[in-house]
Amino acid sequence: MVNSIENNTFTYESEKLGMMYFRVAIILFGAQLLMGLIAAVQFLYPSFLFEIFDFSVARMVHINALVVWMLYGMIGATYLLMPSETGIETVGVGIGKLLFWVLTVAITVVILVYIFVQVGAGTEASIWLIHEGREYIEAPRWADIGIVVVVVGFIISVYATAIKGRRTGIMTVMMANLLALGGLYVTGMLYTDNISVDQFWWWWIIHLWVEATWEVYVATVAAWALIQIIGAKRQIVEMWLWIEVAMLFGSGILGLGHHYFWIGTPEYWWEIGALFSALEPVPLVAMLVHVIYDWGKQTGAAGGKQVLTNTPAFAWIIANGFGNFLGAGVWGFFYTLPQVNIYTHGTQFTSSHGHFAFWGAYATILIAMFYMGLQRANGIKVMKMTRNAKLAITLLHIGMLGMVVALLISGYGQVLIERAQFGATWEGFFISQDAVWFVQGIAWRAVMGVVMLVGFVYLMIDMLTIARSDRNIT
Ligand code: HEM
Ligand code: HEM
Ligand SMILES: [Fe+2]
Repeated sequence: MVNSIENNTFTYESEKLGMMYFRVAIILFGAQLLMGLIAAVQFLYPSFLFEIFDFSVARMVHINALVVWMLYGMIGATYLLMPSETGIETVGVGIGKLLFWVLTVAITVVILVYIFVQVGAGTEASIWLIHEGREYIEAPRWADIGIVVVVVGFIISVYATAIKGRRTGIMTVMMANLLALGGLYVTGMLYTDNISVDQFWWWWIIHLWVEATWEVYVATVAAWALIQIIGAKRQIVEMWLWIEVAMLFGSGILGLGHHYFWIGTPEYWWEIGALFSALEPVPLVAMLVHVIYDWGKQTGAAGGKQVLTNTPAFAWIIANGFGNFLGAGVWGFFYTLPQVNIYTHGTQFTSSHGHFAFWGAYATILIAMFYMGLQRANGIKVMKMTRNAKLAITLLHIGMLGMVVALLISGYGQVLIERAQFGATWEGFFISQDAVWFVQGIAWRAVMGVVMLVGFVYLMIDMLTIARSDRNIT
């Protein structure tokens, strides 16, 4: 048997728990898009919802929902893949379900507070009860502590399962990586009055996530999914996995230096950041090669017969290979040298890269995992593409790529007018905000956001109906 498709009906509670996480992830993804659209409209019409639901709040909910849905997707994917990797039910899955509810209730409360309370007095109480004001990870301190408890429970359960069951290379990498990933969250809970020190540690969370630990995570699930979908040889995918682990931890950690250029850290970060972050695209190329190479290899290994057990998931994995390389690698490389970054820093260039990278590197692979979960939940042996699945992947990508290009044009306008022409002055900032290229780029971003939202609706429809589609009933 090329793959473990016989597991296909949910016999494990762990897989069901994985789906519970996925469902919340998808709802939060939808909420994220709505918030993005509100913020995008506010860019064009600053009085829209003024003092009712300000830009700062819409933006905060937009990017916090992003981080939370991705973490839900990752925890869900881990629960989904563990039984097939280890051959056993996840240890502590009962407690895992309880922790799921604790986390979900806590996150719901946090989001309701963001939406209805929004801001508080500049006191310690606000940090504990409303939000910490740290971009991307604004959860108030009470929730921070709750999140740590839940994640510790989750990590213990992964370790116990891997130790008791079969310990594959994928599981070993998962174990080491989750410890690093979870541990980094704690660096965002420290608070200092010195803004440079505070920023220094803040960068450790999101950016040692996205440029190191999350990337390793993606490589692990992609390795698993490729074994399942195309019957890729375990030795080959695990070999790539180890190479990527070595490279990502090498380039990613010191590559973080590209965020230390202008925050008051010593100047040697210019050289360290420039060199190592410039190397970061290398493992991302390896990841792309990984996917394509395995696909070709499989064709040969199976005697010329291609095995493809989940077409929608595979399409999203291919999107991930390209998206990761382009959005994170190429778009990040554009402005990672301090000589370039001094002009682009704080312009819409950043937003262009931020959207493309999060999308290409993470949203895509998690959506692939949602399809893997749906396939197994419904006992579908070979999951085929449906019309809705095609519309979803197409519209979501047209919308995202359109947004990315629109923001790049706006950013370019800012670089030329605000930075080059007016020498980064206050006056230059306002003149560039009204310049035609900037405004048109911002308008197109909103239009493309609507295209994404339509794509998302198709994705939802597809996920709710794909199991009942004629193509998947055999
Ligand atoms: C999947 C991986 C990645 C994700 C999700 C990602 C996401 C982001 C986001 C959201 C920001 C904006 C942060 C902020 O100011 O709030 C950012 C900044 C930046 N990223 Fe990435 N990134 C990734 C990988 C990379 C790589 C591989 C490179 C370099 C080759 C890179 C280079 C940069 C640079 C230079 C900035 C700083 C821009 C500035 O502040 O001027 N990124 N990234
Ligand atoms: C309907 C589609 C979307 C719209 C209209 C939208 C709009 C926006 C807006 C207006 C901002 C604030 C930008 C600023 O402060 O200058 C923003 C920030 C951000 N969005 Fe979106 N967004 C959308 C979808 C997404 C998706 C799908 C992702 C990730 C997968 C994402 C990731 C981000 C990130 C990382 C930031 C912070 C960027 C930075 O710090 O530069 N957005 N978005
Ligand atoms: Fe970074």
